[in-house]
Amino acid sequence: MSQPSSPSAQPVRAAVAPGSSILIVDFGSQVTQLIARRVREAGVYSEIAPFTQAAAAFARMQPAGVILAGSPASVLDEKAPRIPEEILAAGLPILGICYGQQALMHQLGGRVIAGDSGEFGRAFIEIQDRCTLFDGLWTEGEAHQVWMSHGDKVVELAPGFKPVAVSPGSPYAVIADDARRIYGMQFHPEVVHTPDGGKLLKNFVRHVCGLAGDWTMAEFRKTKVAEIRAQVGDAKVICGLSGGVDSAVAALLIHEAIGTQLTCVFVDGGILRQGEAEQVVSLFRGHYHIPLVHVDASTLFLNGLAGVTDPEAKRKFIGKTFIDVFENEAGKIGGADFLAQGTLYPDVIESVSFTGGPSVTIKSHHNVGGLPERMNMQLVEPLRELFKDEVRELGRELGLPEIFVGRHPFPGPGLAIRIPGEVTRERCDVLRKADAIYLEEIRNAGLYDAIWQAFAVLLPVKTVGVMGDGRTYDNVCALRAVTSTDGMTADIYPFDAAFLSRVATRIVNEVKGINRVVYDYTSKPPGTIEWE
Ligand code: XMP
Repeated sequence: MSQPSSPSAQPVRAAVAPGSSILIVDFGSQVTQLIARRVREAGVYSEIAPFTQAAAAFARMQPAGVILAGSPASVLDEKAPRIPEEILAAGLPILGICYGQQALMHQLGGRVIAGDSGEFGRAFIEIQDRCTLFDGLWTEGEAHQVWMSHGDKVVELAPGFKPVAVSPGSPYAVIADDARRIYGMQFHPEVVHTPDGGKLLKNFVRHVCGLAGDWTMAEFRKTKVAEIRAQVGDAKVICGLSGGVDSAVAALLIHEAIGTQLTCVFVDGGILRQGEAEQVVSLFRGHYHIPLVHVDASTLFLNGLAGVTDPEAKRKFIGKTFIDVFENEAGKIGGADFLAQGTLYPDVIESVSFTGGPSVTIKSHHNVGGLPERMNMQLVEPLRELFKDEVRELGRELGLPEIFVGRHPFPGPGLAIRIPGEVTRERCDVLRKADAIYLEEIRNAGLYDAIWQAFAVLLPVKTVGVMGDGRTYDNVCALRAVTSTDGMTADIYPFDAAFLSRVATRIVNEVKGINRVVYDYTSKPPGTIEWE
């Protein structure tokens, strides 16, 4: 994952002109981000705002239409989230999804009741009437699969609305007021289990809201380059490269905008994967001719990690040392007024919590978000509006080689959190070799892109083995591979046995120090992706 934004970060600026975007109001649903994805897939720029900040976002963005998302709340609750009146009064197209539909009815004069059973999962709706939202897509008499997930239901429509689709559990599965261009649906069009859902959302943003669908990465690149130039002027910018795709893409974009005003700093703490430092240096210095300071701080990091076994202590030490080294290098090049970061949209979206209280810290993520307060620099975060795969698309647009663009995420604390127990230079070397073999086999099998993240872990456990006629007593290596869309939840990748045994044989044969290989079968939750 990329770095969470720091408290001093600027608010997200609209990346498009007034009247050409869609505002999505978040009421706390788990799947709100998917709506943004679908809208962007339709070539339209969208932003998500929590309902508490929706009025401000609405005024700032001046969108062409609004989508009201779902919620775990009930409109019947005393403190239920409400649609800002400004949005209802603006006369713009509105689409209410699930809770969004109920909130529309509740606030516009209809009636919602608590259902005693609700509808959850796959359902079929029948199209009863036509409406602009269905144009060119659904017609009367057809049945379509949708995904329902609601307890409350609308029992009386607000004035001006008519039902246009029904389901066994909802007489108002889809409702429409074509004159006001306001629509509601009880099901979730954003999830894959509603097969036509993406097309419905596209119809809303393109046909109902009249947007052209011309938001492309090429367009984004142009807008951002101009924006970076305006923000930075002739000041200097410094960018920490992690070896990951986000910081690399941010650096390329900024370099395109301001050339040699940008200096990149790559701190190698000795906890990188095999060949990583060489790749970064040759790409940035050799290929792109971007000024790059490459610091070999491995002795500093590994000396400091000696004797440290607690995962949180490792993370804290690495985070702090990274900042120290970065700060030192920044000082050497005469400082800078701006710090560039590869912060992504999922880090920026404020999630809406109905349970109250701060969330529990599972792991302290190492990032450079602590830098600005200490270094007194302003932030340049050109990827703040993008999702991970959009960053990859932008990387391709900027000519970043595929090997870099498609890289699996790699955590800031690097191999240190893949070596439970004490981290030493020798252990890092052993792990690097095993990891490289594993990844090579994954690439050879053509599986790399189907996997979110794959890596080896070196366990502080020794087991007895036999090689040739001799006894061995060496470490265990665990292999991990998961599929995921955002790293928040993950499932294990189901390799076949032949693949795993090929990797195990190679690792035991080729890596001195490992004599046993195991495969981690734990999903997230209950496990996390990294071992520490
Ligand atoms: P976990 O282990 O929490 O990891 O399930 C979720 C995703 O985040 C990555 N990760 C990190 N990324 N700094 C980062 O930039 C960190 O400190 C860090 N810790 C975990 C992890 O690799 C996975 O993709």
